[in-house]
Amino acid sequence: MIARIIDAAVWAPNHLLTEPWRFHVVAGERRDALADAVARWLESTGAAEGAATRMRGKVMRSPVTVFVVQAVASPDETRILEDYAACAAAIQNMLLTAHAAVDASDARTLIAHYSTDRMIGYAGTREYLGVQGDDRIIAMINLGYLREGVEPKQGKRNPPIVQWDWA
Ligand SMILES: Cc1cc2nc3c(=O)[nH]c(=O)nc-3n(C[C@H](O)[C@H](O)[C@H](O)COP(=O)(O)O)c2cc1C
Repeated sequence: MIARIIDAAVWAPNHLLTEPWRFHVVAGERRDALADAVARWLESTGAAEGAATRMRGKVMRSPVTVFVVQAVASPDETRILEDYAACAAAIQNMLLTAHAAVDASDARTLIAHYSTDRMIGYAGTREYLGVQGDDRIIAMINLGYLREGVEPKQGKRNPPIVQWDWA
C-alpha cells in the first residue's frame, strides 16, 4: 500500500521532468530510532525537554511516516520554486491515493496527513535520514488507519472566489 502511494506521487506534473522528489519511509520500531536520534540532537542544541517530547509525539502518532525531500541541484530560483510545486503536487497524489484506498477486508479508513512540523527543519532529522547538501525536507506524511469509533476530521471550506470572464 505504501509503495503504491509513493508510486502515485511521481505522476505529478513536473516542469522539465526534473523528478525532484525523494522519499524516506520511517516505520514501526525505526520511529524510536528516529526520535532517539533527533532527541539527542535537540539536547545538544540546549533545547528545552518539551521540544523532544513534542517531537516524539509527532513521530509516534502514526505507524508510518514518509518524509518528502526536494532535491535541489541548481541555485536557479525558478527551478527551486517549480520543483517545490511539483513536490507539493506529488504529495497531493499521495493523499488522494491513500484516500481512495479501501481495504476490502475490513474497510478501515486510511488517513494520510500532510505536515510541515518544525522537525522537518532540524539538522538532527536531516542527519538521521541522510539528507545532504541543499536538498530539503519539505513535508512529513503521516499514514495510518483511523482508530475505531473516531470520525475523520475535515476543515471547513468556503465557496471558491472565482472571477468568471466567459462570453
Ligand atoms: C504545506 C502544508 C503544511 C501543513 N502542515 C501541517 C502541520 O504542520 N500540522 C498539521 O496539523 N497540519 C498541517 N497541514 C494540514 C492542514 O492543516 C489541513 O489540510 C487542514 O487542517 C485542513 O484539514 P483537511 O484538509 O483534512 O480538511 C499542512 C498542510 C499543508 C498543505
